[in-house]
Amino acid sequence: MNQIYEGKAKKVFETDDPGLVLVSYKDDATAFDGTKKGVIRGKGSVNNRMSNFLMKLLEDQGVTTHFVEEVNDTDTIVKKVEIVPLEVIVRNVSAGSFAKNYGVKEGIVFERPTFEYSYKNDDLHDPLINASHALALGLASEEELETIESTALKINDILKDFFKSCGVDLIDFKLEFGRLPDGTIILADEISPDTCRFWDSKTGEKLDKDRFRRDMGDVEEAYQEMMRRVFGED
Ligand code: TMP
Ligand code: ASP
Repeated sequence: MNQIYEGKAKKVFETDDPGLVLVSYKDDATAFDGTKKGVIRGKGSVNNRMSNFLMKLLEDQGVTTHFVEEVNDTDTIVKKVEIVPLEVIVRNVSAGSFAKNYGVKEGIVFERPTFEYSYKNDDLHDPLINASHALALGLASEEELETIESTALKINDILKDFFKSCGVDLIDFKLEFGRLPDGTIILADEISPDTCRFWDSKTGEKLDKDRFRRDMGDVEEAYQEMMRRVFGED
């Protein structure tokens, strides 16, 4: 198969259908713009299967996604899109860069979710930007940005409720959107412990990639635990 692209956590291959690509999830993990590198055994499978499960859940609630068909534990056919180079971040509780940038502790529950963009560009360290910057840079149109924001907030409502039923608090997450050839904006990339913060609702234990970023140990175990929670095996 012809490889089109290799990212930090996934490879993308051509398929016989020009409108579809195959995404292959890797166990490789990076943090801090790829400067910290490692392997999380079983991560590719967890992220692939969890992301597909969540995309199907979102589709059932009217959110259009790139998901087409899971081929095996690590590989999925998705619609080919042109990725909008924005990291779309929604937060329900203070953590990570929010806590650091604004000098507050982690764990403050927000009355309303926050919404922000980063410009997806490792060389520039994914800088925080606002909608007018995104427009000025020609990254997306005003209408596209409106669609992205309202869809991301709807996704937050759906996912927050779902994870609550799994005994997990959805602290924050990052989404990426893509354009179909006809210009429609759809949800792309992945939703997984790599791209979300998950804290156990009772104990507050971290069940996501922060365990890797912060050298907390039990990284593989956290990914497997999230898998059991999502697939209702607990
Ligand atoms: P942050 O607090 O570091 O800005 O991260 C916010 C959310 O975005 C968190 O759930 C982790 C996720 N994230 C990514 O998916 N990719 C990234 O490169 C970064 C920095 C964060
Ligand atoms: N995936 C990002 C990177 O390598 C960072 C992160 O998730 O923390 O650099």
